[in-house]
Amino acid sequence: MEILKKLKKDRRNLIKAIQIVQKNKGYVSDDSIRNIANYFEIPIVEVEGVLSFYAQFKRTAPGKYQLTVCDGTACHVRNSQDIIDIITDELKIKDGETTKDNKFTLETVSCIGACGLAPVITVNKKVYGKMTPKKIKKVLKEYKGEVK
Ligand code: FES
Repeated sequence: MEILKKLKKDRRNLIKAIQIVQKNKGYVSDDSIRNIANYFEIPIVEVEGVLSFYAQFKRTAPGKYQLTVCDGTACHVRNSQDIIDIITDELKIKDGETTKDNKFTLETVSCIGACGLAPVITVNKKVYGKMTPKKIKKVLKEYKGEVK
């Protein structure tokens, strides 16, 4: 596997290898798992075991638009849960899931360092602050292509 070639073929580097693949591809596909296992000459189940242990690793391709909703303390007390509920309701996805059309992925995080703008979301790293139910509905419409 080309992107791993600088990594020593030592199974202690397994997590590092998975991190490299995820950073590079955005997720760890079945093919990648096979390639990683081949690279370290270890069974596929060993790679799968590490993947399932760490929530940070994603098994499916992220959607075109990554919706990250902060649910840290400052955002939570300003009703970030309402924002999450609206996204879940409108897009039919929960935390960590991607819509069937691969357009949106929802992820909640615990602070993105913009507490003064709470509640905050980002869409592909673009920050939207002081979110309200009305504002999130508008943002979703924009990304659905319903508003220009
Ligand atoms: S708690 Fe949401 S940005 Fe800090």
